[in-house]
Amino acid sequence: MDPHRRLSVGEVAVRAADHLLSSARASIAARGVFTVAVSGGSLPAQLVAGVRTEGPDALKAAEPEKWIVLFADERVVPLDHEDSNYRLVKESMKFVPEENIVAINPGLDVDKCAEDYESKVTKALSRSGDRFDAVYLGLGPDGHTASLFPGHALLSETEHMVAPISDSPKPPPERITLTLPVINKARAVAFVCTGDAKADPIKDIFENANSTLPGAMVMPDSGELDWFIDAPAASAMKSRI
Ligand code: 6PG
Repeated sequence: MDPHRRLSVGEVAVRAADHLLSSARASIAARGVFTVAVSGGSLPAQLVAGVRTEGPDALKAAEPEKWIVLFADERVVPLDHEDSNYRLVKESMKFVPEENIVAINPGLDVDKCAEDYESKVTKALSRSGDRFDAVYLGLGPDGHTASLFPGHALLSETEHMVAPISDSPKPPPERITLTLPVINKARAVAFVCTGDAKADPIKDIFENANSTLPGAMVMPDSGELDWFIDAPAASAMKSRI
């Protein structure tokens, strides 16, 4: 198959799921656990659709009972709220035991919530060499990823793995997010981007060497970076990737 052929949304889901399941197998073989961060938006549903296509044997071989699922970003809302990424992941990624999905404590104020989640991230990552095995990200039409928004001061955060944000330009305003250093330290980072609303930021990220979009600042230090992009999301690019 032409590796540069532009993909359908279904093909993106299968390739992303294949990345997820093979990262899980490799991490569990090496360290007995798979620490993975996921974003909200359409990402969980896409991973689930791809996993379904891969089939039950592929999922079983990836031992989801050994995964620890954390959040690339989370809205500080009750866990059963319609905006909760925890709720989204729990209800879609049903193959992960509920107790392996690490939720925020939404009863805390946003600063304390970030502090508390950082301690949960630290504890989880202590089982996987102090870095995420994999981080799966979406991209907003404005080029944001996780809850790192264009021009926001959090893009320069270097001290914390998890930071609070109380002025998110996209509602709800109060969130916590992984910061760039912890994302860039991961063994693998993958973006999953579909739809023409992503065409302009993707063009900027891939074709503007001086792009300042948050998505362009994701550049793993020593890990792998993959982009899974469907045809509409790739449509503004001149180059073929
Ligand atoms: C948010 C979203 C966001 C999402 C991107 C891509 O809280 O703002 O979770 O970060 O990942 O906007 O969204 P889609 O995958 O739905 O296009």
